[in-house]
Amino acid sequence: MTKIVAIANQKGGVAKTTTTIAKASLIGTQKTCLVVDLDSQANLTDGLGVREINDEQLTASNLFNPRQDPNSIVVSTRWGIDLIPSDIGLAQKEAELIAEPDSHFILKDQLGKLSQYDYVLLDCPPSLGRLTYSALTAAELILIPVQCQYFSAKGYKQLLNTIQAVQMRSNPSLEILGVLPTMSDTTNISKGALISLSKVEGVTVFAPVPKSVKFTESQLAGIPIDRYIRENHSIKESEELIERLILPYQAVVERLLALEIIYA
Ligand SMILES: Nc1ncnc2c1ncn2[C@@H]1O[C@H](COP(=O)(O)OP(=O)(O)OP(=O)(O)O)[C@@H](O)[C@H]1O
Ligand SMILES: [Mg+2]
Repeated sequence: MTKIVAIANQKGGVAKTTTTIAKASLIGTQKTCLVVDLDSQANLTDGLGVREINDEQLTASNLFNPRQDPNSIVVSTRWGIDLIPSDIGLAQKEAELIAEPDSHFILKDQLGKLSQYDYVLLDCPPSLGRLTYSALTAAELILIPVQCQYFSAKGYKQLLNTIQAVQMRSNPSLEILGVLPTMSDTTNISKGALISLSKVEGVTVFAPVPKSVKFTESQLAGIPIDRYIRENHSIKESEELIERLILPYQAVVERLLALEIIYA
């Protein structure tokens, strides 16, 4: 059965897209994986190196048309991961969806037609608007990347409240996979954020992903971070970087794969 995971946090720039790409690349070596770009900024599409979308190519806005076969929107990437790309049209589509009362169920129904994938990862935009609400309605699990540098307890609480609202109104089976602290360093701000996160009961906090320019470099190159490291560094350097930067993502993926065994 397909496992749908939303990567969400209404705060901008916390590494939602980076996390989606890193996880998808690791999952893709073992399982079939589709990633859905739910952000009109299209950073996920761009970060996977899908940069020349012709006028005929359907995108995530078409996914929200219940009559559109979602399989016709999927594009293959060079990394063995499939993608539903996005473009600026998704911003207009979201405005239209707000006017339709039950539109947050469309994504769930559409993803139900893509059951050939083991995993579907939903990269959410930086807001708690209709697109994020749709993703949380469709997902079984949510992973919350939190940037250690600018952690806001208020923003985090707001997100947990939204998750609760979704659980009550549209998706009782939504579960929090955990919080992934990102861009951690040795400053007191970063350490303080980790302490605050660990105080929230009942939510798993994964090991933090350290701050490194390699993430931005790989995104600019349109190559998933694990492959970027291997392609651009000596074996010795790669081993060190993989150990430091990829291991936290690997831990999240292993948790996901382990859940599959538990639920089977
Ligand atoms: N561990 C890291 N260390 C340093 N920079 C990082 C790290 N993770 C991500 N970044 C960089 O931070 C920036 C924001 O990351 P990303 O686009 O993944 O965030 P986002 O939450 O998806 O943003 P948005 O809310 O705009 O969608 C990018 O330039 C990315 O390369
Ligand atoms: Mg993003």
